[in-house]
Amino acid sequence: MVLGSTANLKEMDRESVRETGGEAEAGFLWDFWYPAARSSEIVGNRLVTAMLLEVPLVLGRTSEGKALAMRDSCPHRGIPLSYGRFDGQSVECSYHGWRFDGCSGQCVEIPSLSSQDKLKVERIYAGTFPCEERDGYVWVYMNAPGSKLPEKIPPVPQLPVFSEKYKVTHLSCELPSHIDHGIIGLMDPAHGPFVHKSWFWRKRGSIHEKAKQFEPIPNGFRMSKHSPSTNSAPYQWLKKMTGEAVSTTIDFVLPNLRLEEIHSGKLWFSSRAAVTPVRRDLCRIDFVAAWNLFFLPVWIFRIFGKIFLRQDQETMIRQAEGLKYNPHLMLIDDADRPAKWYFALKANLLESRRTGEPVTHPMDGAVTLRWRS
Ligand code: FES
Ligand SMILES: [Fe+2]
Repeated sequence: MVLGSTANLKEMDRESVRETGGEAEAGFLWDFWYPAARSSEIVGNRLVTAMLLEVPLVLGRTSEGKALAMRDSCPHRGIPLSYGRFDGQSVECSYHGWRFDGCSGQCVEIPSLSSQDKLKVERIYAGTFPCEERDGYVWVYMNAPGSKLPEKIPPVPQLPVFSEKYKVTHLSCELPSHIDHGIIGLMDPAHGPFVHKSWFWRKRGSIHEKAKQFEPIPNGFRMSKHSPSTNSAPYQWLKKMTGEAVSTTIDFVLPNLRLEEIHSGKLWFSSRAAVTPVRRDLCRIDFVAAWNLFFLPVWIFRIFGKIFLRQDQETMIRQAEGLKYNPHLMLIDDADRPAKWYFALKANLLESRRTGEPVTHPMDGAVTLRWRS
């Protein structure tokens, strides 16, 4: 499917669709960190599989506790290494027993070699990826196939927190969508009153005109600090609880992050949604939130958070039904302007990587967008 269905967006977007083609038109952004799994899944000598950007991965943890990510494919005959055994140091392939160091991928043993063999075992490598843990996730740096790692790998994204003590929780859900639809769905300000019309969030009838200022930030854009929507119940509760003004800032940053910070007096709430491409027809939202709102227990938040994500997921499942038939699509002003910025940011980044020129930002400066939601 996928990009076929976005291929009749406006010229600019069509451009980005073509540019992101790369590896068989998959539209992925390589050379970024992506969350591959929850840290808590990688325990003992277990090998866990994951897929990012259509690359099969096997994840593990050394006896020293360091998370590792290898391409889930033996360089000998391609059988997934995840069928093999891991001893906390090296992975033994299930087919002919070659062993590879889990962190470097270097081959350390080929059991079939005789004393006559001259093969330099240490010159054979299984594929590995930089791997780090942050905010309860195992992140993998997905460098483009066949490309070298950059000299300096950027830092792993980290959820901002604003006090020593806080609660934190994680939610995730899969969307049967191309990453672009996952992301523009996440950034879309106009679906709220229709998709998220729960009693606890907002009613469809509460739709009204809004004006929000946006500003450019590196690799993304920011909905400037403002007092949040008067038709979203949680913000109203917060204001009542603290008696102080509530402010919120929402950032979108390439390749896939939506960050929201809410402050009211000393109380704060911080969240990050990462929409990660698994395959070209599947992405996953990994949502993590932290807060010091004493009146908000984790279990309550999770109930509402799950309902909220489920509403988005159901919508994307239905959208995928329609996209199968390659319909004409459009992006309108101003409600779809964030989506246009996303496509332009992505296209400009790829262009800059191609030419070596600095990335041009699609926004000249702050702008106010108006829509009803
Ligand atoms: S396929 Fe892995 S050792 Fe032969
Ligand atoms: Fe939504």
